[in-house]
Amino acid sequence: MDPMDEGMRYTPGSSDKDWDTAVTFLPASDNKKLEKKRGPGKVGIIVGLVILAAVLALIIGLLVWHFHFRKDLKLQKIYTGSLRITNQVFVDAYENPDSAEFKNLANQVMDQLKSMYSESPELPKYYIGSRVQAFSEGSVIAYYESEFAVPVGQEAAVDRAVSSLSETYSTKVRRAQQGPLVFDHVVSSALDTRLFSKARTSTRFAQHARSSAEETIKSPGFPDQPYTPNSFVQWQLRGDPGHVLKLSFDTFYLEKNCTNDFVRVYDSLVTMDKHLMAEKCGFYSPSNPLTFISSRNVMLVTFVTNEEGNFPGFRARVTQFSRDSGELACGGKLSGSSGSFKSPNFPSYYPPSTTCQWDIEVPNSKFIKLKFPKFMVSTGSPNCPGDNVQIVGKSTLCGQQPANTMVTVNSNQVSVVFKSDSSQVDRGFSATYEVFEPSDPCPDQFQCNNKRCIDPSLRCDGWNDCGDGTEEKNCKCDASMIQCRNEVCKPMFWRCDGVNDCGDDTDELNCGCKIGEFKCKNDQCVSEKLKCDGNPDCKDGSDEDGCTRDICKASTFACNNGKCITKQNPMCDGQDDCGDNSDESSCDCGKKAYTNSRIVGGQEADMGEFPWQVSLHVKNTAHVCGASIISDLWLVTAAHCVQDDVKIKYAQAGTWEAYLGLHRQTEKQKATKRFLKQIIPHKNYNSHTYDNDIALMELDSPVTFSATIRPICLPTATDVFPTGETVTISGWGATREGGAGAPVLQKANVRIINGTVCDELMNGQITSRMTCAGVLSGGVDACQGDSGGPMSFLTNDRMFLAGVVSWGDGCARRNKPGIYTNVPKFRAWIKEKTGV
Ligand code: ARG
Repeated sequence: MDPMDEGMRYTPGSSDKDWDTAVTFLPASDNKKLEKKRGPGKVGIIVGLVILAAVLALIIGLLVWHFHFRKDLKLQKIYTGSLRITNQVFVDAYENPDSAEFKNLANQVMDQLKSMYSESPELPKYYIGSRVQAFSEGSVIAYYESEFAVPVGQEAAVDRAVSSLSETYSTKVRRAQQGPLVFDHVVSSALDTRLFSKARTSTRFAQHARSSAEETIKSPGFPDQPYTPNSFVQWQLRGDPGHVLKLSFDTFYLEKNCTNDFVRVYDSLVTMDKHLMAEKCGFYSPSNPLTFISSRNVMLVTFVTNEEGNFPGFRARVTQFSRDSGELACGGKLSGSSGSFKSPNFPSYYPPSTTCQWDIEVPNSKFIKLKFPKFMVSTGSPNCPGDNVQIVGKSTLCGQQPANTMVTVNSNQVSVVFKSDSSQVDRGFSATYEVFEPSDPCPDQFQCNNKRCIDPSLRCDGWNDCGDGTEEKNCKCDASMIQCRNEVCKPMFWRCDGVNDCGDDTDELNCGCKIGEFKCKNDQCVSEKLKCDGNPDCKDGSDEDGCTRDICKASTFACNNGKCITKQNPMCDGQDDCGDNSDESSCDCGKKAYTNSRIVGGQEADMGEFPWQVSLHVKNTAHVCGASIISDLWLVTAAHCVQDDVKIKYAQAGTWEAYLGLHRQTEKQKATKRFLKQIIPHKNYNSHTYDNDIALMELDSPVTFSATIRPICLPTATDVFPTGETVTISGWGATREGGAGAPVLQKANVRIINGTVCDELMNGQITSRMTCAGVLSGGVDACQGDSGGPMSFLTNDRMFLAGVVSWGDGCARRNKPGIYTNVPKFRAWIKEKTGV
């Protein structure tokens, strides 16, 4: 028995009687009598006076604090900066903060900073002190931190004073009022408070890259364990004089939200915003590498984490190369009738403080067409004040530009100048140029309004190839195309698919069959009476699909009492259609508990939004496939998830562990874990065609349903999910083709695609056991790791398991929908194997 329970329980006994008699309340009148006997209230008066005095003292104290001390309430402000000392020569000992040379020069710098601040009327009274953090070559660059105690409300004035001082000292070479050092290039900026939060444990490393050896830096614990919470780690990286540093991340996997955990890379030895090259968080796959190059021989990397959400972390290589090695060479003269050029280090990040100029000159009578297949040049704002690409005399580009952005120059020469400033770098650009005849800009091609030239066969094919849609206007369509009223052509197989492809609905008009007719999957209309009559009347036989033989022909639900229901989706709609309620029983499914409120191209699901979603792990390793809960004991997944391969026995129940109620892959401990008792793959699963890609898993013990664990409803064998209808897919699969899995459950909406259309798009690989869903223009789809998970369809306010993620041609490609196992086809099989 529960001991707590025992203690609380009321058990009558003798002690109760004692308790009953021992406590007696005095009547109120007795109370007064007792007080009176104590005397004339002297004590009361004294106590009252004391309390009054105490209250008065408190008020006075508060007033004094408010008017006197409050204005002295000070904030700690830290400015980080660097300055160049022009009359000193760098010696190796300056790299070691414990050396006498370092200390001596640092003291001189601190003295001069003090005298520099004393030139400002505001600063001396708030100045606490400075600390030199490092020196580097050139002649000598000092990196420092200055601390001020600033009265509340004065922060902005102090910011202004500090920056105006550094401005004075950055423009002209000056000797500070006293002292032997001559310095210029003073740059400073206020330190982000997140970088000096006291709650963090901080660690600092200093590393010097040698040409011969390769250095690495990595997040604490990498690769054996996730990084630690609340940490601040800083790496001061140096190279030899005349060299620049290259930092190449081979793994980068942090929390997605940069306000929590982030890595910053500075083109400096201190955390100065003016030299902040980039702040990064989230995941970068090795196919999309992150490499940074400094403008000088120093670099600073900081890594900050908050209290929650710990991810694998990062590892990066540090190498150096000579500034004259040609690795970063850019610009020059380009002639000839075509050519290409790119920003330094493309497709990874260009270095800060860089300028490149390309002078293009082509034969006299020709003009020039410039094309930028990729263009990412820091952030874009109207005048491109930061980094930019100037096409001299024509335009200036910055920010992210659409693929293949085009600029035509009506001249035979042009200069292209790329400039990066001291902060915020990006991946840069690639560019090509070619010549054109001024009289014929698109020989043998179609010229779009945006000056692009495209193959004439792409005109009026229903796809926007120009980018501005000009080649799809004023079209006369041939027989294989729908002639939309707005003079656009669209492929005929998009007719009546529930999506307004024309833009004016022409393709979705006159789609239905007449009353009393049945619409076949191939859009043919046949008499309703021919449905489920045992003969295929539609050319694709779809009038005989999903018929419950013998009983209940042409109906949607067979009741327990023998009655047949013909209305669409009668199950769990709140109405007793059968009369024996059998269409409304087993409806404790498909509802999320919360009433409020990878997938490629999706977004993070809310916690508990898909309580039937399961993550299947190979024991003690990682997520492999998804699955759906259909009862307290059974899961549905894909058969291809449970096929042995040379290394792992995926078909054995003992290989797996199932996580139910999981949201974030790193929070397994919060989820419910179950081992498996058995796996039942469909016996007709075909590993070449993925036909019948469905399997059942029995848990080793039942789960209790909760807000985050509940079953999804199973559709009936005759349920149809109409073309064009929206369904939701969910999973922890890759968020881009070839990418890595998502740490947080993702969801996306896609639409059911007509089976015949899909079969054409997928080269005849679609069987009636498959359902297609996607977004034909590309960009949204399930992907590797989503397999086995649900495609959920919302009807009658409940989610039904319409499909199981099965396969696709790549992920999210244009005209390549995702393929799902058609669950209604397996309804009877599920019942037979599980009783559910
Ligand atoms: N077979 C994949 C897996 O094992 C799922 C593929 C889904 N692909 C798609 N493009 N819809 O995770």
